This record gives sequence, C-alpha cells and structure tokens, in this order.
Amino acid sequence: MKQLLSEDEIRGGIHRLAAQLTERYRDRPLTVIGVLTGSMVLVADLIRQLDLPLRVGVIQVRSYRGAATTPGPLEINDSMLPDIRGRDVLLVDDIFDTGHTLARLIEQMHELGPSSLRSAVLLRKLGRQQVSIEPDYVAFNIPDVFVVGYGLDYQDAYRHLPYVAALDDDDLAAGPLA
Ligand code: IMP
Ligand code: MG
Repeated sequence: MKQLLSEDEIRGGIHRLAAQLTERYRDRPLTVIGVLTGSMVLVADLIRQLDLPLRVGVIQVRSYRGAATTPGPLEINDSMLPDIRGRDVLLVDDIFDTGHTLARLIEQMHELGPSSLRSAVLLRKLGRQQVSIEPDYVAFNIPDVFVVGYGLDYQDAYRHLPYVAALDDDDLAAGPLA
C-alpha cells in the first residue's frame, strides 16, 4: 500500500472546497446529501467547515463490486433522503471514477424537484470517465489507481484510514485484512 494523499493534504483540499462552497452559496440554506458509504468521512469533515445554514442527509448506492474493482449494476436506496423539493442541494461522493454513479444519482434526484443540484467529490480519477457530466467541485485529481482510505473501501475494509492510499496488484490479489 502506498500513501497518495496525507492527512495534511486532505485537510487542505477540504478547506479549499469549503471556502469555494461557502462563497458560492453565501447565506443561502444548503442541503448536503452524502452518498453512503464512501462519503461519510468527507461529509463529516466538510460540513464542519461550511459557514452556511445547513441541512444534511444521505442516500445509499450499492454497485455490487464484490471482489472486483470494476463496477457492477447500481442499486439506489433513497428511503433515508430528506425532502429536497425547492432546496439548494449539494451531492457529495467520495470519488468520480467512470461517473455512472453520479450521473444516475443526479438524474434521479432531479425528479424530486430541488431548486438547484450540484455535486462535489474528494477525488476524480483521470482518464476513466464514461459519462458526459462532470462533478462541479473536485478536491483532488488522481491517476488511474485503486485507492482506499478516508471513506473509500476495498471489500468494505480500509475506510477508516485517515489518509488515501493506492493498492497495488499484490494487495488486490491478497484481499483485505489478509
Ligand atoms: P463510478 O460510478 O465508476 O464513478 O464509481 C463511483 C463509485 O465506485 C465510488 O463511489 C466508489 O464507491 C467506487 N470506486 C471507484 N473507484 C474506486 C477506488 O479506487 N477505490 C474505492 N472505491 C472506488
Ligand atoms: Mg462508494
């Protein structure tokens, strides 16, 4: 495992992101929607830096990756989502990889009538995108490697690491917690 972003670097990136968002929304109430489970660490850190009237909610997406690091079919569970009609909404996810997750979420959430809908991610993997949309806010661009930590998992492990690390092929083959 090789560290890609240190705790300090992440803190700096989130500080910049929070400053951009506070400036963009000024004193307008914002509803932050975190995509479970990968965004939970980011959401916890980001919302504490937002100087805005704020609501927080979650939506769950599962992609059935299993052992593979390539995405499978998506299942969206919005039963925990608060009412977003007429609200300014910011969707927060851990990583923009192929982009299918964010594209699907944005499409589905638009139908619930928010007055605006933007998106922010901690990471965007370069050269992987398969959709025409882009996240509105990106804290860091990273190369095309499989990463864990700061909310990101490999088979549900490593989410608690305070930094972001890249797994190499041996790590992936050995599996988590081996
Ligand atoms: P996308 O739909 O391909 O953009 O994938 C987005 C989702 O895939 C993220 O929310 C993550 O759960 C997962 N994902 C993509 N790349 C990685 C990675 O490098 N490490 C861990 N999870 C990843
Ligand atoms: Mg995820």
